[in-house]
Amino acid sequence: MTRLLVRDLAQVATPAGTGAPLRGRELRDVEVIDDAYVLCRDGAIAEVGRMRDLARIDGDVEEVDGAGLCAVPGLVDCHTHPAFGGDRVEEFSLRAGGASYEELHAAGGGILSTVAATRALSVDGLAKRVEQHAHWMRLHGTATWEGKSGYGLDRDTELASLRAVRAAGGSPTWLGAHAVPPERADADAYLDFAIAEVLPEAARVADAADVFLERGAFDAAQARRYLGACRDAGLALRLHGDQFTDSGAIPLAVELGARSVDHLEATSELGARTLAASDVVGVLLPASALFLDRPMPPARALVDAGAAIALATDFNPGSSFTTSLPLVASLACTKLRLAPEEALAAMTVNAAHVLGCADRRGRIAPGYRADLTLLAAPDWRYLAYSLAGHVAAGVVRDGAATFRR
Ligand code: NIG
Ligand code: FE
Repeated sequence: MTRLLVRDLAQVATPAGTGAPLRGRELRDVEVIDDAYVLCRDGAIAEVGRMRDLARIDGDVEEVDGAGLCAVPGLVDCHTHPAFGGDRVEEFSLRAGGASYEELHAAGGGILSTVAATRALSVDGLAKRVEQHAHWMRLHGTATWEGKSGYGLDRDTELASLRAVRAAGGSPTWLGAHAVPPERADADAYLDFAIAEVLPEAARVADAADVFLERGAFDAAQARRYLGACRDAGLALRLHGDQFTDSGAIPLAVELGARSVDHLEATSELGARTLAASDVVGVLLPASALFLDRPMPPARALVDAGAAIALATDFNPGSSFTTSLPLVASLACTKLRLAPEEALAAMTVNAAHVLGCADRRGRIAPGYRADLTLLAAPDWRYLAYSLAGHVAAGVVRDGAATFRR
């Protein structure tokens, strides 16, 4: 039996209840224990309570001094693109001078320039990049993460991307329909190839599939064909939708029973109502909207309509070069008009639901996996209040402390 005691914490804060995903008023229901401890046993949470109620522990126990720290559930980044080579710093400079992301994409830059840089890496080189990106996520307090492929778009590089994500500890999503690579005649010809040649093996490695449903990428009919084949192969479904234009991603996500539809910067009132009436989670990516200077997603309207939302970084080289969920929490409270409580639920229990693990991750309660994000703060709301500060002090995942102050 291995035990870990995190003691003398200023606060432990966790979304209340047991269900997932949370929506409406439930999103604000956070339980806070002051002057607290968390006892973990064999990778699971055994006890949470006030220090004054901590019973004597006999035998071996590893102790972490939590003085000056708060614990929240291990943060879950449910939308990242960490499998890429090169960077897009040149493009970033051009955008700073006024060029738009969509123009650069249409001119063959954008995603396709990262595809070329990713294909140029060796299998080992790609794995090292993914490991480096996973390390950055941990430094910002992320305990659990999803990582997409989508910068290979050929068989070997897509599969190497998925395997690299799995090896680095992430949950792989096959974003086989991210863009049409230059060697294919058109989107349909590319999908014929991807479904016949890549899907059978991708379905063995990945947990989910994703598509970029957008003008200039894949349309709703193509997205339906691709996701239908992926669902039949046993993958959970995700969609990039309503980023620049409302292209029917929400009704398609509902029709196919997708886990989530992500971005939603261009979602209409009707889209918000449709999402709210469904089980699909809207994953909001405010760092991407900020990075591209695009409108923010209508988070307040979505929550008030009753939609389940999650928050994620969208980490990638082109539209969101950040691995910081605390930064996303700050943006949620300043730009999306969410409460810190709603932001916390959206990047813990609801994000875990998107990844299919909300029965064991995303809350601090006995029986859940021992996943904690430790914040260097006297109040857990510094998660959002600290704007790009050094708020993440450590991560405990499955009872193992992997980074400490
Ligand atoms: O989620 N929108 C599509 N895909 C990514 C960006 C990819 C890139 O620019 O390299 C996103 O924003
Ligand atoms: Fe994305």
